Amino acid sequence: MEKIKKKYSNGEVTIMWEPDLCDHSSICYRSLPNVFKLSSRPWIDANAATTDEIIKTVKRCPTRALTYELNENFEEKPDEIETKATITIIQDGPYLVSGNFKVLDIDGNEIVCKGNAALCRCGVSQKKPFCDGAHHRIGFKDE
Ligand code: FES
Repeated sequence: MEKIKKKYSNGEVTIMWEPDLCDHSSICYRSLPNVFKLSSRPWIDANAATTDEIIKTVKRCPTRALTYELNENFEEKPDEIETKATITIIQDGPYLVSGNFKVLDIDGNEIVCKGNAALCRCGVSQKKPFCDGAHHRIGFKDE
C-alpha cells in the first residue's frame, strides 16, 4: 500500500508530511503553533510563518515525518544551513541529533546522518542506535 505524503506550500517552500512516520514529539506545534495547528484541517498552514521559520522547525522533526523542499527561485540563507550537530533531549523520548554527523555502531560501523536522527534513550528500540517509538509502549519517563 502506498504511503500517504501530504504537501503544503507557501510558494517558497513546500512542507511534506508523512503521517506514518510521525512520532508525535510535539516539537512542530510547540515551535510554530500558527503553522502546525492540531485542531484545524488542514492542520498545516504554510502561509502562517516565514519560510526561514518553517525550515528551522521542520529540520527539528525527529522522525522526518516532516520534510521540506525549496521551490524554484528560493535559496536557503547560508547562515540557516547547519554545519554542526546539535543534540536535543526530547522529554520522555529520544535524543534528537540535528546536523551532519556520523554514528559509530557497537561494531564500529559508520552510519552517516544528514539532517535529523533520533537516538534511543530508553534502551528498548529494535533499531538501535535509532529510536523506533518503543519508548511510548513502555511509558518511558524522565525522572
Ligand atoms: S527512545 Fe525511542 S525507542 Fe528508545
